[in-house]
Amino acid sequence: MDQRPGSDPLRLDGQCALVTGGDGGIGTEVSRSLARAGAAVAVNYRRRDDAARRLVEEIRAEGGRATAVRGDVTREDDVVAMFRRIEEELGGLDVLINNAGVQCDAAVHEMSLDDWNDVIAVNLTGQFLCAREATRVFLRRGVRSGVSRAAGKIVFVSSVHDVIPWAGHANYAAAKGGVAMLMKTLAQELAAHRIRVNAISPGAIRTPINRAAWETPEAEERLLALIPYGRIGEPGDVGRAVAWLVSDAADYVVGATLYVDGGMTLYPAFIGNG
Ligand code: BGC
Repeated sequence: MDQRPGSDPLRLDGQCALVTGGDGGIGTEVSRSLARAGAAVAVNYRRRDDAARRLVEEIRAEGGRATAVRGDVTREDDVVAMFRRIEEELGGLDVLINNAGVQCDAAVHEMSLDDWNDVIAVNLTGQFLCAREATRVFLRRGVRSGVSRAAGKIVFVSSVHDVIPWAGHANYAAAKGGVAMLMKTLAQELAAHRIRVNAISPGAIRTPINRAAWETPEAEERLLALIPYGRIGEPGDVGRAVAWLVSDAADYVVGATLYVDGGMTLYPAFIGNG
């Protein structure tokens, strides 16, 4: 049978989701979207406990379930402790959104080893550590019939820069390129266990990470030239896509990268050119 009669495959009721870096930018809207779909959400943060707590209160005020969990995704002990706490507090885990990410930009001849290591640590190693811990939980629990068709779902939040080279951002683009192969390899490795692994690659989404690219009219005009769809993305564009991707409506989507980018990956410089 395709799905349970009468059940809405987009709903996430009875499921628990962890959103790393849920305290800002894209992570906040992803947390809201998952909570609206019925999931209990663990909002991970590293430093900004006030932002995470505000979001948790807001989700609870709307009738959802949420909790804030501190943890540095680059530290193995933190990650292990965070997953233990989530299982204790929310009763399990069904969805991991590997969202925490940073940028630390420099021309390659000026890029320090710290700039390189910090970005790889959060954007690539952090995603590995959280995916490993989530996989351990999913393998232990297996498919819970009546809750989801999958034993667990992992979404890597990557970037259009997993395929578009980005001068001045070698650390960031290298990490995202790594995420693309990490995602596909885990998707291949875990599919037989009914664990679905996919990626979402956002383009230019209006958040603090890229403020300089949209905050003046001149910068915004330059940015819009890279987006055929003619508008800058909003965090909700990504939140809604993630909520669909982890739902049973997307049960047959395995190892895919969904570009949520207004066409940024379509080589817009070739419009009327080439
Ligand atoms: C980066 C943004 C950038 C966008 C498009 C994202 O991954 O974090 O700073 O605006 O890619 O270039």
